[in-house]
Amino acid sequence: MSTNIKKLTLGGCCVIALSLGIANAVEAGSNYGHKYGFGTPASAADISKIDIDVMPDGRGAPPGQGTYAEGKKVYAATCAACHGADMAKPVKGTGAAPLRGGRGTLTSGKPKKTVESYWPYASTLFDYTKRAMPFYEPGSMNDNDIYAVVAYILAEGGIISKDTVMNAKTLANVKMPNRNGFISDPRPDIFLYD
Ligand code: HEC
Repeated sequence: MSTNIKKLTLGGCCVIALSLGIANAVEAGSNYGHKYGFGTPASAADISKIDIDVMPDGRGAPPGQGTYAEGKKVYAATCAACHGADMAKPVKGTGAAPLRGGRGTLTSGKPKKTVESYWPYASTLFDYTKRAMPFYEPGSMNDNDIYAVVAYILAEGGIISKDTVMNAKTLANVKMPNRNGFISDPRPDIFLYD
């Protein structure tokens, strides 16, 4: 099932790589299986596995919970192969990003953007992990394991204490180090397409 989603993503990449232009890409996106002879449309069941929208104030966060100790095990089994044992140094060749470190570097000449240093809301960590990780099988993790691994990543980054039990409420209460580091863009929106 999730293979379909990967193929879908790959199809999207190829279309863009061929520089067909945005209008063509949109058209191909709805029809690419026929047009290019590869991939299959994501089914409703595929989409339901990643169909969430977790907002900074906790809206959309599912029931469930997880601890640092549980998250440590989840991380070792499901994430460390790519993100590295200590999260700061991803494993070469995997394309994975560092998940901690870099705090205080954003205004320097060499900004290091990580979950710890850059992300303004912890809700994104839950949402992103649920939708996109592990890279080879997005949508495969249960919500308790995701809460647990979020607790582990945030505690290893020194953002929450190791005894915080992560759930919908505590997730919304996390104050990320870069929470106030973003400014709103005053430029007006420009709509290129209807
Ligand atoms: C097979 C390798 C692999 C595994 C296993 C994996 N990841 Fe990833 N992860 C990636 C790659 C590759 C990216 C970059 C994706 C991109 O930029 O589109 C990424 C990106 C991320 C990001 C975004 C980081 C950023 O700053 O942009 C987070 C958060 C993340 N992974 C969390 C996890 C968690 C949590 C797990 C375990 C549950 C996990 N990943 C397992 C490969 C992996």
